[in-house]
Amino acid sequence: MREQLEKLKNETLTSIKSAGNVELLQDIRVRMLGRKGELTALMKGLGALSADERPIVGQLVNNVRDEIESALEAALAAAREQVKAERLKSERIDVTLPGRHAASGSKHPVSLIIEEVCEIFAGLGFAVAEGPEIEHDWYNFEALNFPPEHPARDMQDTFFVENNLLLRTHTSPVQIRTMLKQKPPLRIIAPGTVYRCDSDATHSPMFHQIEGLMVDSGITFGDLKGILTVFTNQLFGQKTGVRLRPSFFPFTEPSAEVDIACVICGGKGCRVCKNSGWLEILGAGMVDPEVYRHVNYDAENISGFAFGMGIERIAMLKYGINDMRLLFENDVRFLRQF
Ligand code: PHE
Repeated sequence: MREQLEKLKNETLTSIKSAGNVELLQDIRVRMLGRKGELTALMKGLGALSADERPIVGQLVNNVRDEIESALEAALAAAREQVKAERLKSERIDVTLPGRHAASGSKHPVSLIIEEVCEIFAGLGFAVAEGPEIEHDWYNFEALNFPPEHPARDMQDTFFVENNLLLRTHTSPVQIRTMLKQKPPLRIIAPGTVYRCDSDATHSPMFHQIEGLMVDSGITFGDLKGILTVFTNQLFGQKTGVRLRPSFFPFTEPSAEVDIACVICGGKGCRVCKNSGWLEILGAGMVDPEVYRHVNYDAENISGFAFGMGIERIAMLKYGINDMRLLFENDVRFLRQF
């Protein structure tokens, strides 16, 4: 039995040495010291020995068990230590590596122009107003003096939602909404998104406009021209030439289109201004008395002007952008330049 014990001890110590990982070591513990382990079985066999032998062999078994146990403990501790060391190594963070650059965004050119235009008009006493993008036919057309079947409705390729609902084709319905809510004197500027069924290098089905409206007693066409001249000079530079050409809108009378001297060629004539030296940037006019009738204003005692401009077009001119689609593709290489 002595020999048997010695052999078992040596074998076990050898396998502990070569085990190398926590799972194998635990297997060895179960195999030797567990309830059905080999050493446990030997202990149970002690009863068969004589009374003289029993304490001696019992002592031996205990010694072997203690030895195996401490060898296991030591090997387990070493194995755990190694697992920890490996983990520390694999999770090591090199704090000397350069940091990752968090890209900062920039404002979209359309937003930049809206902000700049609103700021210029704020300086002239205009307050910002807004209206819905899904609009009633009445606000978008009817109250602006586009009667049903009026041919001028064709100028605006409308997206209809249902019966009398549509995507607003211009920001002019904000004029109506404002006049219904407020009495003169009034001075508003209304930036917003508008929609027309049209798409090419200079047209997008979704684009932005800024509407202006000033109503008071005694407002004249001279005020319109003065305000718009101050505005274009501030936006495009003091020396920019401005001219007004007669035009037509159902909701203004008289109406005008406003041109600035070409910002590309300075008026000499180039591809952008189609050799005319002028660029059209907005539509304007004196509010038609028919519009006042729809909002219950007294056309005899007040007068005013309105104007509307396309933001994308102004952004293209101001920043020298040759394709409107660049403004909607949102390629960061393009946007980063602003
Ligand atoms: N709403 C017109 C358009 O979209 C522009 C405009 C606004 C003209 C106000 C005159 C007065 O074309």
